[in-house]
Amino acid sequence: MSKIKCLVIFVKLIKMPLILMEQKNNFKRTLVTTALPYANGPVHVGHLAGVYVPADIYVRYLRMKGEDVILIGGSDEHGVPITLKAKNEGVTPQDIVDKFHGIIKRSFEEFGITFDIYSRTTNKTHYETASGFFKTLYDKGEFIEKVTEQNYDEEAKQFLADRYITGTCPHCKSEGAYGDQCESCGTSLNATDLINPKSTISGGALVLKETKHWYLPLDKHEPFLKKWILEEHKEWKPNVYGQCKSWLDMGLQPRAVSRDLNWGVPVPVEGAEGKVLYVWFDAPIGYISATKELTPEWEKYWKDPESRMVHFIGKDNIVFHCIVFPAMLKAEGSYILPDNVPSNEFLNLEGDKISTSRNWAVWLHEYLVDFKDKQDVLRYVLTANAPETKDNDFTWKDFQARNNNELVAILGNFVNRALVLTQKYYNGAVPAPGEFTDYDKETIAEIPAIVKRVERALDHYKFREAIKEAMNLARLGNKYLADSEPWKLIKTDEERVKTIMNIALQITANLAVLMEPFLPFTAKKMQQMINLDSLKWDACGKTDLLLVGHLTNKPELLFAKIEDETIQVQLDKLAKTKEVNDAANREVAPVKDDISFDDFTKMDIRVGTILEAEKVAKTKKLLKLLVDTGIDKRTVVSGIAEFFTPEDIIGKQVSILVNLAPRKIRGIESQGMILMAEDANGELSFIMPDKEVKPGSEVR
Ligand code: MF3
Ligand code: ZN
Repeated sequence: MSKIKCLVIFVKLIKMPLILMEQKNNFKRTLVTTALPYANGPVHVGHLAGVYVPADIYVRYLRMKGEDVILIGGSDEHGVPITLKAKNEGVTPQDIVDKFHGIIKRSFEEFGITFDIYSRTTNKTHYETASGFFKTLYDKGEFIEKVTEQNYDEEAKQFLADRYITGTCPHCKSEGAYGDQCESCGTSLNATDLINPKSTISGGALVLKETKHWYLPLDKHEPFLKKWILEEHKEWKPNVYGQCKSWLDMGLQPRAVSRDLNWGVPVPVEGAEGKVLYVWFDAPIGYISATKELTPEWEKYWKDPESRMVHFIGKDNIVFHCIVFPAMLKAEGSYILPDNVPSNEFLNLEGDKISTSRNWAVWLHEYLVDFKDKQDVLRYVLTANAPETKDNDFTWKDFQARNNNELVAILGNFVNRALVLTQKYYNGAVPAPGEFTDYDKETIAEIPAIVKRVERALDHYKFREAIKEAMNLARLGNKYLADSEPWKLIKTDEERVKTIMNIALQITANLAVLMEPFLPFTAKKMQQMINLDSLKWDACGKTDLLLVGHLTNKPELLFAKIEDETIQVQLDKLAKTKEVNDAANREVAPVKDDISFDDFTKMDIRVGTILEAEKVAKTKKLLKLLVDTGIDKRTVVSGIAEFFTPEDIIGKQVSILVNLAPRKIRGIESQGMILMAEDANGELSFIMPDKEVKPGSEVR
């Protein structure tokens, strides 16, 4: 072996225990936060797998070890998408977030995510905290003020983020590119690059308008961030460290922390009317507000250097939690920075990206309707298959296989056999062991060894490995029973069976503790069955947890087989979603929300006759028409020139909306709108009566 190799191995050997020691000994308490989900939709398996289950496992583990730890969560209730959803549904943003905050909170409770507090960013404490945080940085001179030109939608009367602008891609020329990215060719764009930029909100054209905002100069914090992350946090997960490094290598720019919007925490500065804190500025401060609500001692968690903060998030949140929020905290000056940010990658569903808008998801509240009381099955599958190091796929077949082949066949089967035999041979009482064979001794020695491996994995945020090791204890028990065959020996060697059953019961008791962070509902059942509760983590690894003579209860099955038909129902559901999506993409636009009959009768539609038509100069699409509406003769500008020449249409009878408020189009006042049918290719045709009628006839 070469010298270099030896050295590498040596360095590795001394490094590992050091890291372990650091994580174990230097801190008095742990503050665990979970990304605040946007309250504009329910939560799905991706949320659970990426953030909330691992965080809950970690916190349960620390609590069982008797450590001082709190789990903070809440709903992220600001941001543009929430305002748009409200607009579309004709309700207020507050209505939207009230509804989904409730649904989300309930889902987390049902899945046993043990938040010490699950708060929300529209409450008073949060407004005060976020506003105060901004004010502190402002007073310290930590922001720069800049006036820039931003896209403004004159019809919707609001500034638009690049995402809400579409137009023709300057690179591949495809229509419908977004202001921040063209989805056809993948190029990332600025809205100002687009050809014919339009608002996706009103459909109207955009103007550039000056506006003032406050920026956090990340460039100023770059040297600190580089040292803190790249040198002092090499132990962070490679996916997290790598993303940070690439951001830092590219060089950081000042980032705006305010927006022109009427939904959010108002910017607490004079002359900032109509401006709110950017959602990504206020949301992480939500962790602080929630801690304040939880305990008057919140500062101890946030400001004592002997406290440790850990952020559980998904990969799209890495830059905000590793770079932006730490820069904010550092600039403020009195807060600790995260010790670790164990971000996960994404979970896909049956090979496709999970998407709320395409309804491509397994929603938690729906899962519980179809799989009543099977929270732990999902927790298990999502942990065993967690997207820890790369994107992963959730499939219903895998869900079924893991339930049937692992939970039922290994864990459930072992525990059931151990307890049923104990009932049968000893009426539930734990028998006294005799002398141990070598095989017994080996098996017993494996128990604390497995526990060590579980702990080590948990200490390093390796939840997949941890649950696999925990299942190895059940595997060990299964194999031990199968090899020892107490059901045969009972006829010939009752003393030997007592030893075997004692060992099997100690393994069962260990499982009842070891599984608690992962499968809390199941662990609780197991603890009831062995008639021991409130076990602490230090019980794990002990082989005298159940004393001789202790009475166990009659067992019930922990898991049930999931049949093909049940899985097929879920696959059919997804197939149907796919069909609906494909149809929507191919042919027909989705149905709009219901309107009342009154809404309908507000529209005054008449039959009119086109008297004159001419092209509007310097435009491709517009024709200027003169229409006899029966009421009057009026001018209408219509975007039909790509499909009809003036000669084509003079004399035609068409439908016209006559009470549409007049609008100026290219300097011409248009007094109404000609109704057209448009197919999926954008081809237009007139809506006309099937025989000649008197102009002015009403359409209804
Ligand atoms: N709402 C964000 C998301 O779903 C996460 C916010 S995390 C917080 O991506 F730090 F800002 F709270
Ligand atoms: Zn393109």
